[in-house]
Amino acid sequence: MLLGSHVLNVYSLYFSPQKFEFYGSTAVAIGALIGLISMHLPLSCHGQQQKFRVTPHDLQVLEGAEAMLRCEVSNLAGAVQWTKDGFALGFSAVIPGFPRYSVLGDRKQGAYNLRISNASITDDAEYQCQVGPARLNSAIRANAKLTVISPPSSIEIQGYSNNAKVEVRENQDLTLKCIVANSKPAAQIVWFRNNVEYKIDNRNDKVEEITPKRFTTTSNLKLKPTAADDYTEYTCQAKHKALAPDMPMRSIVQLSVLYPPGPPYIQGYTQGETLRRGQTVELICNSRGGNPPAQLIWYKNGSQIRMAYR
Ligand SMILES: *[C@@H]1O[C@H](CO)[C@@H](O)[C@H](O)[C@H]1NC(C)=O
Ligand SMILES: *[C@@H]1O[C@H](CO)[C@@H](O)[C@H](O)[C@H]1NC(C)=O
Repeated sequence: MLLGSHVLNVYSLYFSPQKFEFYGSTAVAIGALIGLISMHLPLSCHGQQQKFRVTPHDLQVLEGAEAMLRCEVSNLAGAVQWTKDGFALGFSAVIPGFPRYSVLGDRKQGAYNLRISNASITDDAEYQCQVGPARLNSAIRANAKLTVISPPSSIEIQGYSNNAKVEVRENQDLTLKCIVANSKPAAQIVWFRNNVEYKIDNRNDKVEEITPKRFTTTSNLKLKPTAADDYTEYTCQAKHKALAPDMPMRSIVQLSVLYPPGPPYIQGYTQGETLRRGQTVELICNSRGGNPPAQLIWYKNGSQIRMAYR
């Protein structure tokens, strides 16, 4: 620890207003207190303690982008260095072993801004700007968390390419498994049925940390399609803060539900109707629905005479 407890106590008595309030509200009491401390310290340091002019803020950046953690100190007296998750990065502008890190800014102005270029997931950490003690200045420090986010690397409905047709018999169970891979933080999955969000009660999505801090999200959509679902589109879309809202990441499949055609019937003649010799009659064989459509075959007295497709 850089901070000695003795120094800390004097510092807080001298500069912390809360502390003064604690001792009472009358000017006399405060005056007496300052007088008491003054006997132990030269007055010259009063108001010249090193302090942060700019403290680093928690920051979220996209993987590959640049991160700047700012740290600027007024009345700088001590040495400044950054730490990353408690690991000291040293006092120089160039940090050995961290080629993408540099400490920028005018030293005379007390500026020690840590720049991280081409941010990677390994930079995701708690940083601290530490200013060491010097003369009568106590050490000061300020923390900031750097969060590096990364969009998913892929999305797929397992077993199907994007825009594929999924053949399924009606009333047969079908599971569409959507996999959104390698994001930080984990992505969420939104399903759409014909472009309308499809909400299911008992969704059982799974998030797995595949490599450190990178997550793959899986969602299973269980369906039992009916004939009415033929041509229905199901879309799996990734929801993630690193994805631009106007550039959705999605995978789509279209159902082709196989179902039997309706029974055939003949139009153009009613049973029992008398026909004249030479009269032209058009008989139409119909069968409604069916996927794929029925193949219609004519028979005359039990023998196939002609084949036609609807
Ligand atoms: C950024 O880092 C990645 C690896 O993390 C590397 O593949 C890429 O080339 C780097 N880009 C630049 C501009 O340095
Ligand atoms: C069709 O069958 C009926 C009896 O089953 C018969 O009377 C008729 O002659 C047959 N027609 C032809 C064209 O074979």
